[in-house]
Amino acid sequence: MSKKLKLGVLVSGSGTNLQAIINACEHNSIDAQVVAVISNTEKAFALERAKKHKIPSFFISNGEHLEPLIINILKEKKVELVCLAGFMKLLSPSFIQEFPKQILNIHPALLPSFPGLHAQKQALEAGVKESGATVHFVDEGCDTGPILLQKSIPVHATDDLESLSQRILKVEHQIYPTAIQKIASASFK
Ligand code: GRF
Repeated sequence: MSKKLKLGVLVSGSGTNLQAIINACEHNSIDAQVVAVISNTEKAFALERAKKHKIPSFFISNGEHLEPLIINILKEKKVELVCLAGFMKLLSPSFIQEFPKQILNIHPALLPSFPGLHAQKQALEAGVKESGATVHFVDEGCDTGPILLQKSIPVHATDDLESLSQRILKVEHQIYPTAIQKIASASFK
């Protein structure tokens, strides 16, 4: 059996990116395996997705114990790559230092343009003709870390927030597994 990169996915919401990653793992299109899904939102649908696929899932409430508890789980599960997938909380510098160059995030814009919240709205309001999605390494800033992969799409004159967000989300689902595979192939070569 080929080696699999152990992924820990941090979520807060619906988890469609998590689902894209799980699907890619299960179809063997990437050399990776999700070994833990952790949410800071109790009702996140992402937790249901994890359970359906028999992936260990954890809810940890926000507060001073959030990060230490997440770190414990990630270490116990021997996670090699942490994937933020709609995790709505900035991680502290000490958390990031625990996993050097081992944390990825997906952002719904072409960074460095439109970091932070409501990226699709920011793009529409700026009137850009192209937007897209970015997978980047997480550093101590907000959406500032080194870019691993990006894909752009045109912004149509007829786009509204819903249509643009949906088209960007489709791109996210393509590029996140591809970005993970880049790391997997580099670590197993
Ligand atoms: C995505 O748009 C992602 O780029 C952003 O949060 C959203 C999460 O969506 N960081 P989902 O929970 O993966 O469906």
